[in-house]
Amino acid sequence: MATPKHIAIIMDGNGRWARQNALPRSAGHEKGAEQVRAVVDTCVELEIPFLTLYAFSSENWGRPKAEVDALMALLVSFLEGELPRMKEHNIRLHAIGRIDQLPPSAHKTLLHCLKQTEKNAGLTLTLALSYGGRDELLRAARKLAKKVDNGEMTLAEISEEVLSESLDTSGIPDPDLLIRTSGEKRLSNFLLWQCAYTEFYFTDILWPDFDREALFEALNDFRNRDRRYGLTGQAED
Ligand code: FPP
Repeated sequence: MATPKHIAIIMDGNGRWARQNALPRSAGHEKGAEQVRAVVDTCVELEIPFLTLYAFSSENWGRPKAEVDALMALLVSFLEGELPRMKEHNIRLHAIGRIDQLPPSAHKTLLHCLKQTEKNAGLTLTLALSYGGRDELLRAARKLAKKVDNGEMTLAEISEEVLSESLDTSGIPDPDLLIRTSGEKRLSNFLLWQCAYTEFYFTDILWPDFDREALFEALNDFRNRDRRYGLTGQAED
């Protein structure tokens, strides 16, 4: 099978990596941000059109304030540092989730980078920030219910396509491959609707150690999958 068009990643294990290396958790996140750069570079090189990263879940707000602050500061420095490279490599930054809940500095930097890269036509790099799949579905359901309520739409007009286009990921194809690092085998409220037919790849490698070679291994594994979308193998031939 060919290279996936859309890779989604649950970047897990920063804390464990830090513990294993006798470092503070923030050091795990910093090393994790370096791997984000490396994975983005590889996707650009391989001309993969869509990469979506679970950078901060709606549940992550419950972490100690110092860790949340460190993650938000890291997001700002990552965005500021990467903007020139995003421009150079024609990367379009995109965000999903309740970005209005981000602290003002992170929100402002994010909006600036979104605006600066909106016309780029290379890799679409989507950051899931203050994101939860159920929250996204709930917001879409409310949006559609309101339209029906207003008379803008009828109940019968709500199709899978219409619901898809009401999600934060509107315009982005469903992921072909979802990678989760650090040995956990859960979806953790990530892209619940969008992953209906996605291939899952779980690895024990902790995110800060997930290098170029590890990504190639995941891509190799994906190439050997037989995706049938509920059909028989023969129907695909
Ligand atoms: C999970 O590790 C990772 C996160 C909660 C955040 C992901 C953030 C990064 C990879 C770095 C910054 C990213 C960007 C885009 C700037 P964990 O802390 O849950 O690890 P643990 O399960 O081992 O404790």
